[in-house]
Amino acid sequence: MSGDGNGLMSNVILAPVVDARTPGWFHHGAQILALVDQHRPRVCVELGTWLGASAIPVARLIRRWGGTLTCVDTWAGDVHEPSQPAATPPWMLLSCARNMIEAGVGATVRLIPATTREVAQSWTDPIDYLYIDADHAYESVAADLRAWAPFVKPGGLILGDDYGNDLYPGVKTAWDEFEQTHGLNLTRFQSSPPAPHGVQLIFGTVGAQA
Ligand SMILES: C[S@@+](CC[C@H](N)C(=O)[O-])C[C@H]1O[C@@H](n2cnc3c(N)ncnc32)[C@H](O)[C@@H]1O
Repeated sequence: MSGDGNGLMSNVILAPVVDARTPGWFHHGAQILALVDQHRPRVCVELGTWLGASAIPVARLIRRWGGTLTCVDTWAGDVHEPSQPAATPPWMLLSCARNMIEAGVGATVRLIPATTREVAQSWTDPIDYLYIDADHAYESVAADLRAWAPFVKPGGLILGDDYGNDLYPGVKTAWDEFEQTHGLNLTRFQSSPPAPHGVQLIFGTVGAQA
């Protein structure tokens, strides 16, 4: 791992992959990139991409070892920012695609405009990295975990944003249930300074039983 022994990569190593221009919620980006650098995932999936703030740095990093990132999002613009008038399809999908191209990751990122449940029904590839950040309602997070976690390879990484977010308590409930059901021991991580609303990253590796 290219790190400092504490799970965090140095700014020098992070600098080329961090995307400072794209608005979004890459709350615990340094920790996520450190995990990615440690595990070197090749088949990566992100559920909930918005404009690419979390996808772009990950895509930049994984392409160093031939990894690809599939982003699943409706890009309907009506889940977390309902009052944003410009966020209507296809504006949002095109903006995301443009951000990917401008960030230089267009060749290694695939954008699938559909619901996470729809895509899961036809998904077949074993996954090395699964980042869940789509609909934050309890039923949706639980459904994403049920549908997608079985595709994560033994030893693969599974991560979720907004764990502990006081605006979306269902995220915590769904992850806690998932962890208990599958006998996992997931890590809760809070960046310093803390992200707003108590948001933590939850992550871990899954076994064959997930
Ligand atoms: C919090 S944003 C993602 C933020 C992004 N990961 C970032 O760091 O900037 C949530 C995204 O999930 C998408 N979304 C919500 N429900 C969805 C669903 N059921 N299927 C696919 N995408 C969904 C929304 O369109 C939105 O872009």
